[in-house]
Amino acid sequence: KRPIAILISGRGSNMRALIDACAAPDFPARIALVLSNRPDAPGLAVAQAAGLRTASVDHRPFRGDREAHERAIDAMLREAGVELVCLAGYMRLLTPFLTGAWSGRMLNIHPSLLPAFPGLHTHERALATGVKLHGCTVHLVTEIMDDGPIIGQAAVPVHADDTPDRLAARVLRQEHHLYPAALRKILDPDGADDPATESLLFL
Ligand code: GAR
Repeated sequence: KRPIAILISGRGSNMRALIDACAAPDFPARIALVLSNRPDAPGLAVAQAAGLRTASVDHRPFRGDREAHERAIDAMLREAGVELVCLAGYMRLLTPFLTGAWSGRMLNIHPSLLPAFPGLHTHERALATGVKLHGCTVHLVTEIMDDGPIIGQAAVPVHADDTPDRLAARVLRQEHHLYPAALRKILDPDGADDPATESLLFL
């Protein structure tokens, strides 16, 4: 199994999905480190309860020196022998230092069908725009936020009576299927496609 790290800032439900996937004997990854920029991120306790190695590198003492913060993170990733990094609700903008250091080896999950709705408040914006199809994307991280080669997407319908919270919950359920599937695809490109990840079109 290939050693990966998961970077979080919050509750870590996508991290949990990756933990569960990695528990399967035939899954090609194992989690070497869960790292948060927030020492109080609820996801850290979840990772610890699962017996995983955790660390936090609080961004606040770095006083806006984003690259110095990233150098501290990068040193921990290397020390842990990590080969690939999964951003899972990691809510810091990255500088070219970290994106360059992990180019082609860093994944992100974003709660929209990119290139639609990069950035924040994706569900509110999807509802305001009136799209009928929304979803989530796993992509390789580049210097440009919420950009980079798309590894996989999952789509959900937008209902007429949706609220941002209801839509977010529907997307999040798909995020939890998509992220492990996309990670497997990156680590095992020639593996068979999971039939459960066939794309869907909603009218
Ligand atoms: C997820 O919906 C993820 O797609 C989103 O934050 C949430 C984290 O939830 N990520 C971004 O918005 C990145 N810009 P989680 O902590 O329960 O996985």
